[in-house]
Amino acid sequence: MNREGADMKMHTPRSRALGMHLILMLVTCLLASRVLVAHEAAPSVSASPTESATPWGGDYFPNTLLTDQDGRQLRFFDDLIKGKVVVINFIFTSCSDSCPLETARLRQVQKLLGDRVGQDIFFYSISIDPLSDTPDVLKAYAQRFKVGPGWKFLTGEFADVTDLRKKLGLFIEGVDNGRSKDHNLSLIIGNQTTGRWMKSSPFENPWILADQLANTLQNWKQPSVEENYANAPEIRPPSNGEELFRTRCASCHSLGPMDGQGIGMRSIGPDLIGVTRLRDPAWLSRWIREPDRMLAEKDPIAMELFERFDKIPMPNLRLDENAAQSIVGFLQEETDRQQPLQAAQTQ
Ligand code: HEC
Repeated sequence: MNREGADMKMHTPRSRALGMHLILMLVTCLLASRVLVAHEAAPSVSASPTESATPWGGDYFPNTLLTDQDGRQLRFFDDLIKGKVVVINFIFTSCSDSCPLETARLRQVQKLLGDRVGQDIFFYSISIDPLSDTPDVLKAYAQRFKVGPGWKFLTGEFADVTDLRKKLGLFIEGVDNGRSKDHNLSLIIGNQTTGRWMKSSPFENPWILADQLANTLQNWKQPSVEENYANAPEIRPPSNGEELFRTRCASCHSLGPMDGQGIGMRSIGPDLIGVTRLRDPAWLSRWIREPDRMLAEKDPIAMELFERFDKIPMPNLRLDENAAQSIVGFLQEETDRQQPLQAAQTQ
């Protein structure tokens, strides 16, 4: 009867929490850009002639002592970023929500960049939980995700790592030190030599991230190939479910053998074509929303998949029921599109 009342209930605390999260991310971006601008404005008196090209040299970045997954000790500025194009993010291996998604996304970017990773582009994932994340634990994590060479997983003293996060603008006072490990969902990419740094989202398309690292951030430019606009593909606005799938799920899941990503690597999780026909709808909806709890409850299907997929747990991405339903809707449409014959048979 009271339609407005029913509509109001759709704004669940979860969607409000997501809204807050987005606002916080925006605020961090603003704060980070102000910190960088403020620093740029300050005259760098102590910089040597070679370092004066960039406002962020050895006098800005701490030379934090870090240990990599092979137990090698490295200095943050001198050994890891000086003169390099880098991707840096902060993770902890026991994280069950955002970190696996970031790792999976970067793994696709690494694959797209090929052997340039380790030559002129370097990946660093730094642990914010140094007590648990020993070099051995980081090594096992890197192996589980099958990351290639040129990507270091690092750990160091907690206070030093916190300081580093602040210098990189990847630390929000009140969020990052308030609720225990709920950390900032961002990564930073940059070229130390030119001083060009950008914050990026792990939800970013892997092709865009790879292009920023391989082209935009490099000092040289590749000639762009002019294409006839008549050949440009028609742009189809994605549905909400498709958008969510591309940004939250596609880093780990393909959709059918011809999946558009074309990166040519084995996905971290199972291919999801046909999954809406295979699983019970209630199971599927709950699994998308809280896989961590179902694994904790030892749900038999969940346990079998977990064993089959290298014991990498599917992350809880804090989606609400509407979001899960939109994704299921998209998976169903995509299955019917790719396997129309079976769609007809099951009707
Ligand atoms: C970090 C990687 C990762 C991300 C991101 C991810 N998944 Fe998964 N997913 C997995 C893994 C790994 C499994 C296999 C089960 C396990 O190991 O927990 C899985 C299993 C599944 C299954 C079960 C398949 C079956 O055969 O029943 C579904 C459905 C699924 N994921 C949907 C999604 C959706 C929808 C999203 C986005 C909202 C998503 N996943 C995001 C890694 C991921």
